[in-house]
Amino acid sequence: MSFKGQHILSVKQFDRDNISRIFEIARQMAPYASRKKRTRVLDGAILGNLFFEPSTRTRVSFGCAFNLLGGEVRETTGMESSALSKGESLFDTARVISSYSDVIAMRHPQAGSVAEFAEGSRVPVLNGGDGANEHPTQALLDLFTIERELAASGLQIDGMHIAMVGDLKFGRTVHSLSKLLCLYRNIKVTLVSPAELAMPDDIVSNLADAGHQLVISDKLEGHLNADIVYQTRIQEERFPSKADADQYRGKFRLNQEIYTRYCKSNTVIMHPLPRDSRMEANELDNDLNLNPNLAIFRQADNGVLVRMALFALTLGVENIVKDYECAVPWYSNK
Ligand code: NCD
Repeated sequence: MSFKGQHILSVKQFDRDNISRIFEIARQMAPYASRKKRTRVLDGAILGNLFFEPSTRTRVSFGCAFNLLGGEVRETTGMESSALSKGESLFDTARVISSYSDVIAMRHPQAGSVAEFAEGSRVPVLNGGDGANEHPTQALLDLFTIERELAASGLQIDGMHIAMVGDLKFGRTVHSLSKLLCLYRNIKVTLVSPAELAMPDDIVSNLADAGHQLVISDKLEGHLNADIVYQTRIQEERFPSKADADQYRGKFRLNQEIYTRYCKSNTVIMHPLPRDSRMEANELDNDLNLNPNLAIFRQADNGVLVRMALFALTLGVENIVKDYECAVPWYSNK
């Protein structure tokens, strides 16, 4: 696949070569993300950053990624402050915003909405999460993180053991990540969730068809000795009410004591964030913060690299980023 001018709507678009290419470009972005150098390769370009659902990291990291490549960001946040709340169609919004911008990142609560929007867009659209459906840029940064973290123990994605824990029904990050894992070989995938929040059947079938070994459980005990434990938040916003979500909160807590008892000494802990740190949930306790295998902040940092790579590729500048380099004159402790 050539990335230039393409929408990024689903991980199903990618093969392993595409992913290797994205990761190769992402690694090249490290000096800019760590402020060792600047690049102005996207000087003059505009990102339309449209977030119709709550977000901190994804929205800001899309924006920072674009800024770090020298581009400008225009954004709108929240449904109520947009013309969609006046009845405008996604198509009309797309036609207008795509004439104002060079690329668009978008998040929306409805499954399929970003693809519908892309039909009206004249510039590439990057899906920042469409309801419970997909979150392709998150899955790419998750896989990038998995590859990096496993390499430290001499392991690879092929042949690894990953346990995904929590709300696997509504969690779009685990949906997209599972679909990506189908491109790899011989993975043991453990799915731990309450039965009512199980991974959708079609995704489980895809994992089985890919030849992966599947373990499905509604208990955490006995399933934590994986290479990667990918914890998730109960996706309260997709439940009919807070009370419905409350039934499942706090069921699968992970803290240092449980880690010491059940995980391997080098089990990597991931979470797309935000972790729900309220007492009744506390799915990843703060006492893990000093555990060197807690990768959640490295994971979030990797999001900037991967999103920079996706902008460079979709705008066709991935090979000339260096030609637009300049110095960083300000103090930086990164
Ligand atoms: C996730 C999301 O929005 O799907 N967050 C993120 O993008 N990093 C996960 C979540 O909200 O629980």
